[in-house]
Amino acid sequence: MSFSSPSSKLNIVILAAGKGTRMHSSKPKVLHALAGRPILQHVLETARKLNPSKIIVIYGFGGEAVPQALPESDITWVKQAEQLGTGHAMQQALPYLETDARTLILLGDVPLLELESCERLLAEKASLALLTVVKQNPTGYGRIVRQQQSVVAIVEHKDATETQRAIQEVNTGIMAAENAWLAQWLGRLDNRNAQQEYYLTDIVALAVADGQAVAATQSTDEWQVAGVNSKQDLAALERVYQHRYAARLLAQGVTLADPARIDVRGLLKVGRDVEIDVGCVFEGEVVIADNVRIGPYCVIRDASIGAGTTLAAYTHIDAASVAEDCRIGPYARLRPGTVLAGHAHIGNFVELKNAQVDTGSKINHLSYVGDATVGKEVNIGAGTITCNYDGVNKSRTVIEDRAFIGSDTQLVAPVTVKAGATIAAGSTITQDAPADRLTMSRVRQFTIENWKRPEKVKK
Ligand code: UD1
Ligand code: CA
Repeated sequence: MSFSSPSSKLNIVILAAGKGTRMHSSKPKVLHALAGRPILQHVLETARKLNPSKIIVIYGFGGEAVPQALPESDITWVKQAEQLGTGHAMQQALPYLETDARTLILLGDVPLLELESCERLLAEKASLALLTVVKQNPTGYGRIVRQQQSVVAIVEHKDATETQRAIQEVNTGIMAAENAWLAQWLGRLDNRNAQQEYYLTDIVALAVADGQAVAATQSTDEWQVAGVNSKQDLAALERVYQHRYAARLLAQGVTLADPARIDVRGLLKVGRDVEIDVGCVFEGEVVIADNVRIGPYCVIRDASIGAGTTLAAYTHIDAASVAEDCRIGPYARLRPGTVLAGHAHIGNFVELKNAQVDTGSKINHLSYVGDATVGKEVNIGAGTITCNYDGVNKSRTVIEDRAFIGSDTQLVAPVTVKAGATIAAGSTITQDAPADRLTMSRVRQFTIENWKRPEKVKK
């Protein structure tokens, strides 16, 4: 068998069976979160962009926790019950590889690897291609041993001579190989080495022995090939991820008060002239239209914010949609199912849950509005509460257009306040309030004439 040109069909194997002892956690390493999702999820996202015909994940430590956490249907899960080395891990994948394909081997704990690095590696015309990196301190890594220019072997740190340990070019663990060759080399591995493991890296010397040129392409970006081995590594990679995300937002024209103080844990889509103050966290999929201003310390998850809307400090939005030119916060909380039409004002200490609020309505202070339909140009006074829950069932409150709800009102659902109705402050409304009338329910004010405040009795 000789090498002609790389197979166009691609398999991807992700090695993720390791324990990650230094994480000091009972959770498998690859399930720890980076930017809000499992480390392994990041590797899978990059893998998918290469349109492979197969994605195989080798799992082991933590049992079924890993496949259960990532129930995507395009993954072939292969269990490595005992972790006898990276070569042993690849041997488990072998029965699932397609004979007419090549395989890109990725590491489940290297989350910042980008598509272009994979493409550069796959562009190498060789039956085995390695992604290497030059490290100031190469301790612990497999060293790339070259004769003249050619790669002839990888020697693991623990097996290396003093001279070899001086080599600064190291194996990232990421490589690509023709499956026909890979099958042969994996079949010939042994564990006669310092760690008594089956080293995947030994396939390099086997390839050379078979007369196959081994290509090596160097990564110039250490972070892209950095693995997570500890919580310190995880925290460092998280900051790099966030720094890079912020840099992309700046490049798109977003104004960030401080690019070091924004966290995006998902996808953030932004329009033009968006301003984001410090300490904001974006989770899931968030879409922000033009001219939106977001004050400090807002937490926004799975939401869309319409053009020209302002979110003041400490606003929390979860699974809600806000249309254009709204003014929200500070200290407002929009919970799932909330939909605000344009020009709404939602002020401090207002909680909305599954509330649909139409154009121009205002709920400015200290209110709970849940399971409610609020019409246009409605004014809801301070301290208004929709009593939507009777201990068993949830019921809806309907407040029609131009209604005015006085402060400190309880609306006991199901109940409707008709268009243009006014509710007097301090009312408890249990029946529908008619349109364009004043409705109240409170004890009339009276004064006790001969009353005196009690005085302290001296003993
Ligand atoms: C490995 C490489 C080393 C390289 C380094 C880069 C070998 C023998 N050595 O060393 O040349 O410089 O990565 O970080 O390959 N895994 C399994 N099953 C196993 C063992 C490991 O799935 O039985 C997985 C781990 O989960 C991890 C990856 O393979 O994702 C690498 O394993 P690790 O133990 O970190 O390898 P190193 O000894 O660091
Ligand atoms: Ca490692």
